[in-house]
Amino acid sequence: MTLAPVPARRLILGIETSCDETAAAVVEDGCRVRSNIIASQHDLHAEYRGVVPEIASRAHAERLVPVVRAALAAANITLDDLDAVAVGNRPGLIGSLLVGVAGAKALAFGLRSSRARPVPVVPVDHVHAHLVAGRLSTPNHPPRPIPFPALGLVVSGGHTSLYLLDSPTRLRRLGATIDDAIGEAFDKVAATLNLPFPGGPNLDRLAQTATPLSPGFPLARIAPDSLDFSFSGLKTAALYAFRGVPESDWVRTKREKRNEPPAPTFDAPTVAATFQHAAVDTILLKLDRARAQFPAVRALTVGGGVSANSLLRARLIAFAAAANLELFLPPLEYCLDNGAMIAALAFDLLAEPARIAETDLAFTAVPTSAL
Ligand code: KG4
Ligand code: ZN
Repeated sequence: MTLAPVPARRLILGIETSCDETAAAVVEDGCRVRSNIIASQHDLHAEYRGVVPEIASRAHAERLVPVVRAALAAANITLDDLDAVAVGNRPGLIGSLLVGVAGAKALAFGLRSSRARPVPVVPVDHVHAHLVAGRLSTPNHPPRPIPFPALGLVVSGGHTSLYLLDSPTRLRRLGATIDDAIGEAFDKVAATLNLPFPGGPNLDRLAQTATPLSPGFPLARIAPDSLDFSFSGLKTAALYAFRGVPESDWVRTKREKRNEPPAPTFDAPTVAATFQHAAVDTILLKLDRARAQFPAVRALTVGGGVSANSLLRARLIAFAAAANLELFLPPLEYCLDNGAMIAALAFDLLAEPARIAETDLAFTAVPTSAL
């Protein structure tokens, strides 16, 4: 069966509820952001020092409709102007995802009954969407098309992965973390250092006040040409540097007999700075390897919450310049979870006729990424 040509979808509403941000945005032509509303739940989870899934999904249920209304109002459009609805349906907290998925389906279903042309509802993989966030416009930056092939890096609370992209929708994973995600390591080290939630940005701020230790913490190289990552050893190195290396009675007695002092401990700013340098060095090490293994790449596109990190941003800019890669590093509002990146990727997905057939109300929320 041949599918009918697909009309370009100009205005797409993107909905994102995978974790603790209730977000909605209107994006034109997959790159021009008309509105981007993010209702953060940080205040609700702060006292637990982590996201509480039940609280997150309840808050999404309360906030989704007002956030969508605000996104439409800020874009100066009504529901009738929408050409498609997109929703992040994976990965994430299942209860949180379900709120966005059910909301998007209800909205599209309602719009279908009043339209001659069906309004598609597009399920979007959140991790994949982080890879296109760098091309979105801001009031100060016009949108930029990503040249391909490109390297893609996702550094978030749940993922740390490298990809080779031949187009926005055709990509292959080159490597991923074999244990903790980088954002998870930032958050856990921040908790060790008694920093308030959310850990990553607070650790970033503290790290800027100190000089990292030299030599620093060891980097996980894994194997000479591996593009995988590991952060759990680094997290433990930070724990021991702050609290001391745990010793059994037997080990302590032997050390004392040798008249050796216990392993030194360091203050929180020094541990934060040393950890942050090692975490960022690990990312740059793997990017360097990927660049050498895929010399044809023309661009580097980066996304995910940790791409807001000050040191990582500075190092990525320097790396891309030296490696002659065009860098797509999102402005801060598109690094963290947002609906604009969801709408952006939906535009690319809708441009592929084969995907349209799959786009229907039958999809559901899935806790894992397909990438
Ligand atoms: O992409 P994101 O908002 O949610 C997920 O998809 O996971 O990423 C959240 C992660 C959290 O671990 C948070 O601590 C981290 O991004 N993060 C940062 C910074 N801002 C957010 N980590 C380091 N430095 C930052 N400035
Ligand atoms: Zn994310």
